[in-house]
Amino acid sequence: MQDFARKTRRALSIVGLTMAVAAVTWAKGKETLSPAAQGGKKVFDQNCSLCHFPTQATTKIGPGLKGLFKMKELPYSHRPVTVANVQEQIEKGNAQGKPMPMPPFASKLSKTDISNVIAYLKTL
Ligand code: HEC
Repeated sequence: MQDFARKTRRALSIVGLTMAVAAVTWAKGKETLSPAAQGGKKVFDQNCSLCHFPTQATTKIGPGLKGLFKMKELPYSHRPVTVANVQEQIEKGNAQGKPMPMPPFASKLSKTDISNVIAYLKTL
């Protein structure tokens, strides 16, 4: 019986330790987003995720945006991946986009929202 109690205690402490490690890892994962990128994630979830995957490079309606700023060129227009070009895409959209146009966000999003969403795109 004592043996059982000892084994149970050991098992519980291992579970506790695993949970603590998991919690720290989880908290670290959250911390890595700057406040701007965190704000940008909200903007993205509400305005862009309908058409763009943030976690895949495959097409949803528009191209997946995972790793966007690690690419040499933009997936659709093949222009260089620069803040200016991405900002222009967000502000103006693309009326000729296929399979459907990307709407312009210049009047929908503030300058801060746009720079935050770009900060978020850089983390993908
Ligand atoms: C209604 C669907 C839709 C929404 C919403 C949308 N997009 Fe797009 N997006 C597209 C389509 C379609 C394309 C591909 C055609 C093009 O380049 O316009 C695209 C292309 C892009 C590209 C690549 C441009 C290039 O030149 O290759 C970026 C970057 C992008 N979108 C970012 C965003 C961001 C950031 C948001 C949110 C603020 C957003 N999109 C919202 C449909 C959408």
